[in-house]
Amino acid sequence: MSTDSAMNSEVLVCRRHGVTANPAVPWLCGECGATLSPPRNDVVMDVDALRERPENIYRLHELLPVGRTPSIGLHTGWTPLVHARQLGGLIGLENLYLKLDCYNWPSYSYKDRVVAMALQRAVERGASTVACVSTGNVGNSLASLAAAAKVRAVIFYPSGIEPAKNIISSVHGAEIFQLQGTFDQVNAICRELALKGVVPFVNLDLRPYYAEGAKTIAYEVVEQLGWRQPSNVIVPVAGATLLTRIAHGFEDMSHLGMTDAGGGPRIHAAQAAGCAPIADAFAHGESAVRPCVPDTLAKSLAIGNPTDGAAALDLIGRSNGSASAIPDEEIVESIELLASTEGVFTEPAGGVVVATARRLAKEGVISPQESVVAVISGNGLKTQEVVASSLERVTQIPADADTVTGALLDAL
Ligand SMILES: Cc1ncc(COP(=O)(O)O)c(C=O)c1O
Ligand SMILES: [Zn+2]
Repeated sequence: MSTDSAMNSEVLVCRRHGVTANPAVPWLCGECGATLSPPRNDVVMDVDALRERPENIYRLHELLPVGRTPSIGLHTGWTPLVHARQLGGLIGLENLYLKLDCYNWPSYSYKDRVVAMALQRAVERGASTVACVSTGNVGNSLASLAAAAKVRAVIFYPSGIEPAKNIISSVHGAEIFQLQGTFDQVNAICRELALKGVVPFVNLDLRPYYAEGAKTIAYEVVEQLGWRQPSNVIVPVAGATLLTRIAHGFEDMSHLGMTDAGGGPRIHAAQAAGCAPIADAFAHGESAVRPCVPDTLAKSLAIGNPTDGAAALDLIGRSNGSASAIPDEEIVESIELLASTEGVFTEPAGGVVVATARRLAKEGVISPQESVVAVISGNGLKTQEVVASSLERVTQIPADADTVTGALLDAL
């Protein structure tokens, strides 16, 4: 296969099991339950010719399930990859790089990539209303991208969503239903709606296309590193779209000869201890996850029954990676550590990743010279309440010149 039309076909495969029918849930593998993918397009790419292309998620459009001229998410992706010298120096990783999807367009999280890809597909199919089930950021991405595309957005949230995420979705004019239950309960209800075809869901029936959007992180990292793969990648995990598709993206780059051959990076999963089904299964050497009921301040990662949990465990194991579970206090500490060393304000998902990097360095799982890419997937401006205690460091003084001078001289 080497044409755009191949990528636009409706054929879907499991990367582990090939074509597997699943009449019950057509977008998941009938064998292992993982989200299916469009088949890989074995196109030969001229790396030099790519330089002229727009810096967005469609840069390698031949490898993505969209038509030749996509219109949604033209400013999404190509986020900075920065060498984190100060943070890396402190935690003992000299070659630590941050992939800053906390500055993604339009809604400051990695979800802009996946939602743009699914919405593009939905619009190509003629949809005028598109829905999602979300722990916060998917809803923000859909609300914003759909508003600009003149598509009606319907969002289903569980209880406990951070106020800013609710407001951001609402201000864009989306229809929002907040159900009194966990994400997994809301997801089960929405899955029935999607199966009945009531409305298309970006992360249910359109999930195979949504998931492809996350591969673009790996494509960008390889190009930003000068067509090289890092030795390690640390990925925050909820439903495990991000982790599985970053792994697929690196596989694509090797397979197509666009980067050094070899096994690809070790894949390290980062979860909150209050919702760590994948880290728990990994610690016990199991190949399937046991669902849990989340209890963590990392609301965006609060998925107790990850759709791609088993696929993630397989990829982590095959890459000689790891899976960590980070307690809430350490997440908050790590948000502050990242902000105070690199000037980057992340939401808890990024705190989980930074804490995982620190642990892996401390335990010697990653040695000081190895290259590491840590995916900072969401922005702290949306979750300010988790670091509200930092207000205690603000000195309150009267508006009196002498007092101010004295206080300043004491502080210097
Ligand atoms: C900021 C952020 N990072 C990471 C994730 C995890 O994504 P996934 O469900 O693909 O594992 C989410 C999911 O909502 C998120 O909002
Ligand atoms: Zn499968």
